[in-house]
Amino acid sequence: MSEETAEIAVIGLGNAGLPLAAVAAASGIKVMGVDIDVKRCRLINQGVNPIPEEEGLEELIRLHGGEGLMATPRLEDAKFCHTFIVIVPLFVDPSFNPDFTIMENAVRSLGKILKKGDLVVLETTFPPGTTDTKIKAWLEEASGLKLGDFFLAYSPERIMTGYSLSRLREFPKVIGGTNEESGLRAYQIYKKFIPNLHLVSSAKVAEMIKVMEGCYRDVNIALANELFKIAEELGVDFFEAREYANHQYCHIHLPSTGVGGHCIPVYPWFLIKEMERIELFGHCNLLRGSRQVNDEMIHYWAEKILLRCMKIEKPLAEVKICIMGITFRAGVKEFYHSRNLALVRLLMEKGLNAYVYDPLLSKDEVERMGLRCIEPEKADLLFDPFLLRFEIPDGKAAFKGQTP
Ligand SMILES: NC(=O)c1ccc[n+]([C@@H]2O[C@H](COP(=O)([O-])OP(=O)(O)OC[C@H]3O[C@@H](n4cnc5c(N)ncnc54)[C@H](O)[C@@H]3O)[C@@H](O)[C@H]2O)c1
Repeated sequence: MSEETAEIAVIGLGNAGLPLAAVAAASGIKVMGVDIDVKRCRLINQGVNPIPEEEGLEELIRLHGGEGLMATPRLEDAKFCHTFIVIVPLFVDPSFNPDFTIMENAVRSLGKILKKGDLVVLETTFPPGTTDTKIKAWLEEASGLKLGDFFLAYSPERIMTGYSLSRLREFPKVIGGTNEESGLRAYQIYKKFIPNLHLVSSAKVAEMIKVMEGCYRDVNIALANELFKIAEELGVDFFEAREYANHQYCHIHLPSTGVGGHCIPVYPWFLIKEMERIELFGHCNLLRGSRQVNDEMIHYWAEKILLRCMKIEKPLAEVKICIMGITFRAGVKEFYHSRNLALVRLLMEKGLNAYVYDPLLSKDEVERMGLRCIEPEKADLLFDPFLLRFEIPDGKAAFKGQTP
């Protein structure tokens, strides 16, 4: 494939963008991937998968990397494409306001190479209304074109790292335009590589779908956490009760140490902040409350750990506590908003002797975070934050969320 024959450009070849680019390439579309990470681009062009935990991706990158999927750090190399998919991150600041810096840079740079008739599709999760307002304005300003000269749509990424390929191939994906023509054009292009695609009435509806999904998960986890705490007080095995409470119309999620990652703990804030901006504070009590319930779970577990330590026949300061994982999710080496990491830090702040054992991390990696490593068998108390399980290393006692 040469630059001139590339059809679709995917801007941002991260955990979300690369699987999408690979799936498009596997459908026979010539894809130019753009990422500022030069090393990542080089690996992809050599046919080497930079996301080993992504099942099935290795084969696609081996087959298409440097061929039907070329990667480049220079956006100008994608100037012959007619469709541009943007999937770079959107972070939140410490007050949970979205920080558009990375997105604005990427979109304004894209505007400089945009041509009449081109289609731009955003995939990053946005506060509803972003594509119609900010993205459109940045593209128009940078390109000197008007919407109508180019087409603009939104299709939220609904993948989950580790399962991205099956999600892209099977899971329903929605797409909506900033006007009818944009929606139709985007649908036609995406239909070539996304089998389960649904055109919705606008970009804003598509944006809302993704944020609603995140809110549902956050509220549901908060419910599970609250019911778990109540069940413990009542002397009820939450897990047994949940098993029989769940059916077709009831799907209580699992309790946890809180909610981490880029997505679920962040998306409710998109709506909370917007309602606060227009002074409709009462419209998001449940979302705000759920955030609080989930964030406070580390205090609940810290107290449980403390009570458990007090039962060990050693001075409290000498009890070695081992937290068995600090990533935000089991099996994925990511720490963004990790409540397990926050739990270890909280225990240390409380003056407890907290250590970490995480099979995904080396001793050096743990120590660079200002934490200490321990082999599980050398600790006095193990806590698995994914299974909410306490264990004494000699294996005599194993608990599942029981009150110490
Ligand atoms: N990863 C997921 O599971 C997931 C799931 C659903 C939605 N999303 C959405 O996808 C967005 C991106 O997530 P991700 O996991 O791919 O992030 P990531 O950090 O893995 O990847 C982002 C990539 O964008 C590149 N980049 C940054 N600025 C750029 C620019 N100006 N031009 C080209 N490349 C640039 C980075 O180098 C990086 O490789 C998230 O903000 C979220 O809204 C992600």
